[in-house]
Amino acid sequence: MLLLLLLLFKGLPCHGASTVSPLLLGFHHPAAEEPLSYHFIQISSFANHSWAYTQASGWLGEMETEAWDSVSGTIRFLKPWSQGNFSKEELKNLEALLELYLHSFTTEVQVFASQFQFEYPFELQVLFGCQMRAGKPSESFLNGAYQGSDFLSFQGNSWKPSPGAGSRAQNVCRVLNHYRVIKEIVQRLLSDTCPRLLASRLDAGKSELEQQVKPEAWVSKGPSPGPGHLMLVCHVSGFHPKPVWVMWMRGEQEQPGTQRGDVLPNADGTWWKLHLADIDLFDCNSYLGHVGCS
Ligand SMILES: *[C@@H]1O[C@H](CO)[C@@H](O)[C@H](O)[C@H]1NC(C)=O
Ligand SMILES: *[C@@H]1O[C@H](CO)[C@@H](O)[C@H](O)[C@H]1NC(C)=O
Repeated sequence: MLLLLLLLFKGLPCHGASTVSPLLLGFHHPAAEEPLSYHFIQISSFANHSWAYTQASGWLGEMETEAWDSVSGTIRFLKPWSQGNFSKEELKNLEALLELYLHSFTTEVQVFASQFQFEYPFELQVLFGCQMRAGKPSESFLNGAYQGSDFLSFQGNSWKPSPGAGSRAQNVCRVLNHYRVIKEIVQRLLSDTCPRLLASRLDAGKSELEQQVKPEAWVSKGPSPGPGHLMLVCHVSGFHPKPVWVMWMRGEQEQPGTQRGDVLPNADGTWWKLHLADIDLFDCNSYLGHVGCS
């Protein structure tokens, strides 16, 4: 998608006479070529041997699709299509499995903390998910991190320590690999449940996921970067999907010395971004006039 917007920025306190030449910025949405992925993330903080807190949520790409409610022990689906075409019964079973897992995870980690040489306070993260490429399931993954560093992963049908995670991770994997039933459940979740849920969600949520919303763009004056300079801020907001390209142009050339902000989420599921340009007022004749987005 290529858009052309024209913005008019008036009131630049330019030195000298002004000749009008365009200042352009542009954005476009490349087609979604990236693989589509689902991931479930669990973050567990252990303060001491009696206190732990877990947050867990599921994401389709950059969109949160469910959150774990630890008080009621239920999955809160955040989109009308989050359940894909899973039956009520299958969802109930998944919820029960998740509750059992999260409860046992905390308990077992506390029990094994000293044997595993986990030192309080510590944080464990688990990332579980799968991808689709060109309409076909491509890869599934389950990775664990200790204190923010890669610790272990599930490969094929067993737990493997991450390179560089040391004897502590080897020790944990050795213990985990004794639990055959857990490995079978993990394998099934990775090879069957996750790809099925992802595929049926992509179907059920098609209209929302593929929806394209054009951004609004406007320009304002930012904080002064110093004498003789002016900061211009281009606001681009309300667009979907996320990939966007924004730049300040001076004539045909990209304006150097600009700052790119991150693409950040709006509450309604769209995205916004700021893009700043530092303009030398003694050299700004060529910027005056139209500000455009293409
Ligand atoms: C464990 O950590 C929690 C949360 O930081 C704290 O409130 C509690 O007093 C601690 N308990 C012990 C036994 O240290
Ligand atoms: C659920 O959806 C998937 C993908 O859209 C499809 O392949 C499968 O046949 C559906 N299953 C049922 C039971 O409808």
